[in-house]
Amino acid sequence: MAFSKQLSAKKRKTIININGKIIPPEKLIEQANVSVFDRSFLYGDSLYEVVRTYEGKPFRLKEHLLRMEKSAALCQMKLSQGIKVYEREMLKSIAAYRAQPGKKNEDVYVRIVVSRGSGKIGFGLKNLESECLYVIMVEPISMFPNPPFGKGLNLQVSKRLRNHPKAVDPAMKSGNYLNNLLSYLTAADAGYDDALLPDQQGFITEGTTFNIFYVKRGIVATPPLDVGILDGVTRRAIINLCVELGIPCREVRFPKEYLYEADEVFASSSLKEVLPVMNLDGKKINGGKIGTISVTLKAAFEDLVKNELKLNK
Ligand SMILES: Cc1ncc(COP(=O)(O)O)c(C=O)c1O
Repeated sequence: MAFSKQLSAKKRKTIININGKIIPPEKLIEQANVSVFDRSFLYGDSLYEVVRTYEGKPFRLKEHLLRMEKSAALCQMKLSQGIKVYEREMLKSIAAYRAQPGKKNEDVYVRIVVSRGSGKIGFGLKNLESECLYVIMVEPISMFPNPPFGKGLNLQVSKRLRNHPKAVDPAMKSGNYLNNLLSYLTAADAGYDDALLPDQQGFITEGTTFNIFYVKRGIVATPPLDVGILDGVTRRAIINLCVELGIPCREVRFPKEYLYEADEVFASSSLKEVLPVMNLDGKKINGGKIGTISVTLKAAFEDLVKNELKLNK
């Protein structure tokens, strides 16, 4: 099974970088392997970040890596490299992907996974027999399609709760995503695109891999960080865009009913950018019409990316 998956990666021309060593697609089966004693496999004892590129340039890579440093501090993980090294290796991996025949103009998804390392089985750090391991994966962005902006997302509010900040803190982007993954699977089983997770008091926190916003009477709202969410790089960019555009934006707790009654709801993430939510729990948001603030913020986000990365198109 693992081998057949790796063969599909070979066809996609996936680039893997393990601890600074680039493994080309034809060597994936032999070389793109992690030990069964690795703590990411044994305990989900790992962190990760995802960025995407535009015309080959990653958006806010440094911000993602600074968040990874924060995640490491939240779980007492001693990273083996400084973020300058991770940044250099990610850029090197993107370049290796795009240097392949026919891939020069392809945009990519880039994931970095950092495991605490491998050694003897057991929680204690004295069992470690290696430093942190890092793996960078570069895949074509086309592998992660989203519904078109005009169609939007069809979401379910999960019965499963987002982790309490005093459990596996959602502020930490750890490799421990089983809670989110199970929410996604339940939603997908019922025909939804994805899920939103509430907290124990019924306040909406975020999606399985994205932040959430709603608009009511011209005011944008999104849950505050202390409800227990990831401090999304895109979320932060959108809040700043609201300030620049003079659109009132508040960080407030709200239950799912506020979303049912909203004028607009949209998701944000590095892969989704600004993506409207058209249906929630089988109810149409705003009669199924895309709202003007979502359109404005989507355009403003595109401009931001274009200007910051000095894109041609
Ligand atoms: C749980 C969760 N919330 C929000 C996000 C969005 O974060 P960003 O905008 O930094 O991609 C992600 C991204 O993977 C996520 O996993």
